[in-house]
Amino acid sequence: MSHSLSPVELIRRKRDGEILSDDTIQGFIQAYTAGEVPDYQMSAFLMAVFLKGMTVEETRALTLAMLHSGAVIDFSDIPGFKVDKHSTGGVGDKTSLVLAPVVAAAGVAVPMISGRGLGHTGGTLDKLESIPGFRTDLTLDDFRRLVSTIGVGLIGQTPEIAPADKKLYALRDVTGTVESLPLITASIMSKKLAEGIDALVLDVKCGNGAFMKTFPNAQALADSLKATGEAMGKRVTALITDMNQPLGWAVGNALEVIEAQQVIRGELLTGRFAELSIDLSAHMILLGGVTDTLEAAREKVLETIRSGAALEKWKEIIAAQGGDPACAENDAKLPTATKEAVVVAASDGFVTHIETEAVGMAGVVLGAGRLTLDSVIDPSVGFKIEVELGAEVKKGDALVRIAFNRDQTLPEVKARLERAFTIGLEKPGE
Ligand code: URA
Repeated sequence: MSHSLSPVELIRRKRDGEILSDDTIQGFIQAYTAGEVPDYQMSAFLMAVFLKGMTVEETRALTLAMLHSGAVIDFSDIPGFKVDKHSTGGVGDKTSLVLAPVVAAAGVAVPMISGRGLGHTGGTLDKLESIPGFRTDLTLDDFRRLVSTIGVGLIGQTPEIAPADKKLYALRDVTGTVESLPLITASIMSKKLAEGIDALVLDVKCGNGAFMKTFPNAQALADSLKATGEAMGKRVTALITDMNQPLGWAVGNALEVIEAQQVIRGELLTGRFAELSIDLSAHMILLGGVTDTLEAAREKVLETIRSGAALEKWKEIIAAQGGDPACAENDAKLPTATKEAVVVAASDGFVTHIETEAVGMAGVVLGAGRLTLDSVIDPSVGFKIEVELGAEVKKGDALVRIAFNRDQTLPEVKARLERAFTIGLEKPGE
């Protein structure tokens, strides 16, 4: 029988481009999670997958095997659709903080398991934890209780969720096998499907601050994620959105909470960040079956914001997770940096290029992000981005304001930001 193939035989078959059966993949992942397959054989298998790829069917089987390596939450006792969003990560992307309260206020349950920032990208958990008292290290039981009582729960990965992914990801990281479509797909989807969702909105970022730098690569990832989610019976919408500049004015944890709250309170409803937040929320509400059209879903989003229902839900979320709900209406209660420095335009012209990944890395140097999972971050520091791509500037105009506490890293942060912004004579796109 195929699932009793020895690891070496299975590695050879994938090396030679053969298609593996569901049972074979399932048995191999199960044995690896149980510690019965050594890392060196799994490494060889991962490289064979990296080089030869996988069909949609194999990717589905891999996703399923990784999903069932741990707990899969069952929310079938909660009426209605449960919908989440997944972003492939970027700089200044705080949309989750807006859509959780907005979509829950519109009557769609949002079970959201998020990650921490790593490298140049930020993470939702770090942003939430900049709210004094807010806890994300909750158990799956707490998570269930939150989703069934207030319609939304925002927690971090727990050891019970997709343990195979944890082991495999660590191995991919050190074997040059991260950038593989089937492996990325199975990694993302196994964790998301463990949340007990019925539908998922994917925000695949594309550009110089994203995992996928080019449109064809972003499209291929979006297609692979969507095909796998749908093959597992979920409703999936995939958007590809721009990450050639930071999303919105804020980069850095507490600052990003402030920008998200401006949208939740209805003070900021235009611009790239607010518009994407509204768009993603509308797609979630549509998938959740509250409206029949995207236009009606968009209206519903604006209604929850304008009526104050989204703000009330945000306060409810903060209070339920141990935070101070007064922060929702009073930004001054969030951690604030003590000092400010400004990076200015060195000449007249237009902002022709923003090296977004470099902006994110400057944030890491400042203390807003982390290089390893145990780096300590300072929630109060970050950047206020004053210009968008294409903006006309005069010499001396502010490009970025740096909110900081410690003088030591400032020169390096400033130098990195100066290099990240290019001022040219011609307006881009003309
Ligand atoms: N994010 C994940 O969770 N897994 C990957 O493999 C890549 C990005």
